[in-house]
Formats: sequence, structure tokens, C-alpha cells
Amino acid sequence: MSQRPSHLRLGVNIDHVATIRNARGGVHPCPLRAAEMAAAAGADGITIHLREDRRHITDDDLTRLSGAIALPINLEMAATDEMLAIALAHKPHAACIVPERRAERTTEGGLDAAGQHNSLQPIIARLKDVGIRVSLFIAPEERQLEAAARLGAPVVELHTGPYAHAFDDGDAAAELARLARAAEFGAALGLELHAGHGLTYANVGPVAALPQLAELNIGHFLIGEAVFVGLDAAIRRMRACMDEARS
Ligand code: PXP
Repeated sequence: MSQRPSHLRLGVNIDHVATIRNARGGVHPCPLRAAEMAAAAGADGITIHLREDRRHITDDDLTRLSGAIALPINLEMAATDEMLAIALAHKPHAACIVPERRAERTTEGGLDAAGQHNSLQPIIARLKDVGIRVSLFIAPEERQLEAAARLGAPVVELHTGPYAHAFDDGDAAAELARLARAAEFGAALGLELHAGHGLTYANVGPVAALPQLAELNIGHFLIGEAVFVGLDAAIRRMRACMDEARS
């Protein structure tokens, strides 16, 4: 991971490389190759979500990626015994706990860190015990940030989905202000702040400019854009958008 203070890390989520592969059930396109390309294009980490239904990334992908890539892996996972056991076995650099509903198309809301304190606490503790950096994917709300701090999570990832939707509707000011307030509030609590979901070349700038953020995790747009310009070019352009916002 980069050391420059103003450098905003980019975690590239490669789930949808596996989605395309799984559409035919074969081995192409290969998530491992995508991870290697992402590294060469300047990604600071690789993010994967091992979902309960294995709709994209599989256990085998996790095993192969863990053994082969130099970049830190951020494993998105539901707070279940099954996922905890997998995380403890693989010991990724980081684990991001996300809510998961079988019927959802993607992760729709943030984790209710405030309401699920008792079930989350032992999972967070066990992940931290083996040195995994834990983050909680939450809505940009003070009570969720306070709950994350109480739970001892060192990192939170702010859900930028509502901001991205509002941006598409032409009025993102209120959602951006919520993210900015949450970033400030979270930093004051001593949390490391990440953000992600629905980010694109067009909407990433105002989020990347929030000075408290240390990392963005971006997937669907990059993989979709890679169809047109290639993964390398898509990641480099996203990197440039982020750097420009920070400069
Ligand atoms: N962060 C989290 C916690 C996510 O669940 C996702 C989607 O898997 C992302 C970031 C990336 O979102 P997107 O694919 O829309 O860029």
C-alpha cells in the first residue's frame, strides 16, 4: 500500500470478472489474471466478495488469489460462521463485513452495526485476533459510526450507493454532504475511513476529494468499462480521476 499521505488507495473489486466467467461455467475470464492486471495498472488492493450463494467469486478463486498475488486482499463477507471460518483459514489482509441478503442483486444497504452489536462483536474480535484488518460497510450515519467504534472495528467503509443514485438523478449535494459529515465524524472517533459502491469516473471526484478517506473500493463500473477500453486503461483512468480530485 502506498505511503504518501494524500494518496487515496484504490481497491479494485474483481467480482464481476467471475460473474462473466460463471455465465459459461468455464475458466475464462480468469479473476487471477484480472488481479495481476489490476496490480500492474496501479491498484493498491484486490477486493472480492465471497457470497453465500457463490454467484461470482468461489472458494477456489479465494484460494488461488491468496496464494498468487502480491497485493493485499480485502475479503467482503457476511457475518456468518461459515464466512468467519473461511476468513480465519485464509487470513486475508482485510475483511469487510457486509450485510447480505440472498435475493439482492448487489449489497443494497449498510450493515446495522448499531442493531447487531452482540452478533458482530465476537466475529470482529476473532478476525482481529489473527491480525485481519476489519472494516464494517455502513451507511454514513453517526449512530453507525459510533457503533463501529464501540465494536472496536478500526475501519469503516461508507456506503456511497445512495450518493451514486442521487448523482445519476442530478442532485447529489445532500448525499455528498452526508458523506462529508460522516467522514469528519468518523475521523474524530479515530476510525480509518473507506468508501465504495456505485463509483464511476463521473461521480468519484467529490468523494475522492474528502480528505479523511484513505481508500475507495470500486468494481462494477471498472469491469463494465473494461469491456470497451480494457481493464488496464479503465483502472488507470479511475486512478487519474482520484488523483486529480486529491491534487
Ligand atoms: N464496497 C462494498 C462493501 C461492496 O459490497 C461493493 C460491491 O460489491 C463495492 C464496494 C463495490 O461496488 P461497485 O461494484 O458498485 O463499484
